[in-house]
Amino acid sequence: MTPTEPSMKISVSGLRAWFGTNEVLKGIDVAIPARQVTAIIGPSGCGKSTFIRCLNRMHELITGARSHGQVMLDDADVYASDVDPVLLRRRVGMVFQKPLR
Ligand SMILES: Nc1ncnc2c1ncn2[C@@H]1O[C@H](COP(=O)(O)OP(=O)(O)OP(=O)(O)O)[C@@H](O)[C@H]1O
Ligand SMILES: [Mg+2]
Repeated sequence: MTPTEPSMKISVSGLRAWFGTNEVLKGIDVAIPARQVTAIIGPSGCGKSTFIRCLNRMHELITGARSHGQVMLDDADVYASDVDPVLLRRRVGMVFQKPLR
């Protein structure tokens, strides 16, 4: 990496996500730079919230939901067996569209 390239905070590769048999993320590859604002834009239902829930492992809390692929945060694998999802979610927060009941 040259000094002029921004460092990547999050790197996603081959990310797929399902609700049951419905595959809603079909192989996402994206790198999100540190110290910049990155917007995810798309029509309702295209998978924006699902994508964010895969970054902080909230997707796996939904019954019947699963994901596959790699998410790196600061060069550490978010899905590694030694990662505590609760501590991860402190670092990768999200604001919900609707309040959770
Ligand atoms: N809990 C769920 N159970 C089953 N399917 C779901 C669930 N949540 C979302 N989906 C489906 O997954 C797909 C992606 O939904 P998601 O909420 O990620 O879209 P979005 O881009 O955030 O939409 P919006 O702009 O309306 O917030 C949609 O087809 C949606 O119906
Ligand atoms: Mg949404």
